[in-house]
Amino acid sequence: MKKVNITETVLRDANQSLIATRLPFEDFEEILETMDNAGYYSLECWGGATFDSCLRYLSEDPWERLRKIREKVKNTKLQMLLRGQNLLGYKHYPDDVVRKFVQHSVKNGIDIIRIFDALNDFRNIEVAVEETLKCGAHAQGAICYTISPIHNLEKYVEMGKTLESMGVNSICIKDMAGILAPQEAYDLIKALKETVKVPVFLHTHSTTGLGPITYIKAVEAGCDGIDTSISVFSGGTAQPATETLNYAIKEMGYQTDLKEDVLKKINDFFRPIKEKFIQSGGLDAYVLGTETDALNYQIPGGMLSNLIAQLKQQNAMDKLEEVLLETPKVRKDLGYPPLVTPMSQMVGVQATINVLTGERYKNVTKEVKAYLKGEYGRAPGEIDSELIKKVLGDEEPITGRFADTLEPIFEKTKEELGDMAKSDEDVLSYIAFPQIAKKFFKEREEKKAKIVSYTISRV
Ligand code: CO
Repeated sequence: MKKVNITETVLRDANQSLIATRLPFEDFEEILETMDNAGYYSLECWGGATFDSCLRYLSEDPWERLRKIREKVKNTKLQMLLRGQNLLGYKHYPDDVVRKFVQHSVKNGIDIIRIFDALNDFRNIEVAVEETLKCGAHAQGAICYTISPIHNLEKYVEMGKTLESMGVNSICIKDMAGILAPQEAYDLIKALKETVKVPVFLHTHSTTGLGPITYIKAVEAGCDGIDTSISVFSGGTAQPATETLNYAIKEMGYQTDLKEDVLKKINDFFRPIKEKFIQSGGLDAYVLGTETDALNYQIPGGMLSNLIAQLKQQNAMDKLEEVLLETPKVRKDLGYPPLVTPMSQMVGVQATINVLTGERYKNVTKEVKAYLKGEYGRAPGEIDSELIKKVLGDEEPITGRFADTLEPIFEKTKEELGDMAKSDEDVLSYIAFPQIAKKFFKEREEKKAKIVSYTISRV
């Protein structure tokens, strides 16, 4: 019987998609041992926005969170999401930092690293993949799925081949917007399975309502694993429900190894947590619905809500239709980047500026300028040559890998931080988010001082 591997995302992607990654460790600590016994292939529990959110909003050391999860989850593989050369931030880091980050992620408990680049420029994931393999962990190479006139089945299969030749242990199709349709998924997974030897995984979201159907067709085509979220934290902008997919897939004659009674315990545990977030306003009913606009506009649901928020702020909601028409044009000018962080924000903001100023590219954001210079990597398609001329003038764009222009900074930063950083992990937190990490270190010291004085006064 063929097995379909199930990755549970409640601790990372569902947490990120539904409640802006605000789930504190203490909320889920008690259920970790139970989750370890559910029969999951892996728990996606770290990376993505969790790192930023721990430091910025939850006053938690992200590295300590990982170690504590590892302590309770002894058998199930722990998985994280890494943005290639961007790591967990929004700009490219030099190779020494990427290598250290991977080393410490594995050392602190990660088994599987899913690595992607927003432009599918695999030069930007090479170092992270190589280091993951060197550390003895599982490197999963991800392909960002998008729809455009230049993206087609052949191209994706070609990308799969490239990833396999880089030595990845598995490949993931990452459909961040939930726009991969069932038949397309079937054709794509089938073509990949016929071409590559490594397992093929699929990651999608319920946003447009296609998610569960797409997973079923993918499984029929031979997909080796899918990402789901426990039902109370599923649907909408998060993943399709674990229990539902488990039920359907087993009925189709596949094996999942999931234990229904344990899944029920996990779901019952998360129910009051969901209630708490609804009460506090941290979970907005809006994100739980089905948003089919993404299918018409071919832009992710999250990007659409960002555009609306921007226009509201500018008192320009009457321009929404115009911005929605401008967005695909900007995307075309930029060579059809997939609309994933940070490209989705860049395209959306530039389209809004183009409409509001009344002249296209009269003002160009710093990020778009850097993109045109080649600092994010190679565009999937042709960038509009007039636009390059207009913005860069005589300056030549970079054609090599941007990280090759960056000097190593880890040792230097470590020295500069001195006593403030208590470990190499602290140095990495600081390099990723300097201001926020600094504030966090200070608060940590203050907390420690308080505990010491309390203990002394008790003695
Ligand atoms: Co996702």
